[in-house]
Amino acid sequence: MTQSANKNKKLYIKTWGCQMNVYDSHRMADILSAQGYKAVDSPEDADMVILNTCHIREKATDKVFSDLGRLRPLKEAKEAKGEKMLMAVAGCVAQAEGEFILERAPYVDMVFGPQTYHELPEMIIKASGERVVNTEFPAQSKFDSLPEEHTSQGVSAFVSIQEGCDKFCTFCVVPYTRGSEYSRPVQKIVDECKKLVDNGTLEITLLGQNVNAFHGEGPDGNVWGLGKLIEEVAKIESLARIRYTTSHPRDMDEALIEMHALPKLMPFLHLPVQSGSDKILEAMNRKHTSNHFRDIIEKLRKARPDLAFSSDFIVGFPGESDQDFEDTMQLVRDVNFASCYSFKYSARPGTPAANMQGLIHDKIASERLARLQALINEQQRSFNESTIGQTLPVLFDRKGKREGQLVGRSPFNQSVYIEGNPRLMNTIQDIKITEGFDNSLTGEIVTNESILRI
Ligand code: 5AD
Ligand code: SF4
Repeated sequence: MTQSANKNKKLYIKTWGCQMNVYDSHRMADILSAQGYKAVDSPEDADMVILNTCHIREKATDKVFSDLGRLRPLKEAKEAKGEKMLMAVAGCVAQAEGEFILERAPYVDMVFGPQTYHELPEMIIKASGERVVNTEFPAQSKFDSLPEEHTSQGVSAFVSIQEGCDKFCTFCVVPYTRGSEYSRPVQKIVDECKKLVDNGTLEITLLGQNVNAFHGEGPDGNVWGLGKLIEEVAKIESLARIRYTTSHPRDMDEALIEMHALPKLMPFLHLPVQSGSDKILEAMNRKHTSNHFRDIIEKLRKARPDLAFSSDFIVGFPGESDQDFEDTMQLVRDVNFASCYSFKYSARPGTPAANMQGLIHDKIASERLARLQALINEQQRSFNESTIGQTLPVLFDRKGKREGQLVGRSPFNQSVYIEGNPRLMNTIQDIKITEGFDNSLTGEIVTNESILRI
């Protein structure tokens, strides 16, 4: 089959879950654009549909099946016209439950895991003759075989620098679905960043499941950590902003902490802690205590006094007593976060915690979650309000819902809404913050000079 057979094939990708999945979806679109597929916003009449799935918490598989059920008539309508719609399930649900999906959804053509995306062209050819399952962890890393160009990244771009996780927190499926830690070589990362910046990118987020465990081969032959990599990336002149996510407290080394003094590294850090109770942290196999976390926060604040923090919390982990939960509340009060994600524990098949005693009743877990979220919301709102009256540089990367509205990000990752000239899109502007809400800020342009300069 020649790839030019049909140059206008439509590709619809739906993405769930983390930023790594969002990134992977872009990369799949890149690979498939070389095969004549153009990304579209709706699955109707698509030639290929990919569901890029997430397995981190419960109901993931159910959601995939209900989406598949909704897509099925579209596939049948396409077939009635004598055409084909390739239906694929990718991502972590595919990795964990590949065979089960094929069994329960006979109309699914392809199931493949996160480490196989570079094999997509071959898999598509194979799928014309048989159903494809690919949940391998190939020896050849997908990083080395994915196309270099990003067709779908804008002023704010993601660069994957590390993948997989060797931490084996007892609640988490990632080490099983994404495999063991792998870091890309420094030069490849820097080259990719330079290319993005040449194409107009102003902000780069370095991405990894366990990004600060990065230990890539440096151009000097030594192993480089994330701190040194950031220093190198910051040398790219027209690059204005650097971020990285997601980190583990245990890998927050001195070099990385000190690097937070660098102005280009944005003063916002997502550092999941999961719990404030040492007993629970141990049962989670986090290998750090709550005071260890407090120390890291203090050191980071010394390096960068305006650093704002976010974190992830799990409530209702097996064995969590009232006191354990109070310890979590206390940690949140002590640190004072700018924002946080919090979840009820969800047993994941195959993980060690799924076999633990001391299950917490759902009603208690829900009450704890509600209390924690009320505290977090309060902190988030007062953080947002604390920026009222300040002038912050805001990177505008999207249009708002209302006519004439632009939306951007402050250095602290807050969404900032302004009424402004569309020419300000894809630029960084000084914005005076006028109002602060639970999840966003509004502001106005400080002077008109910046508009005139464009
Ligand atoms: N149950 C609830 N939350 C979980 N997370 C990961 N696994 C689980 C689970 N089994 C949360 C953690 C992690 C975030 C991405 O998802 O807080 O940091
Ligand atoms: Fe999962 Fe823990 Fe690895 Fe994070 S560090 S991906 S929570 S196992």
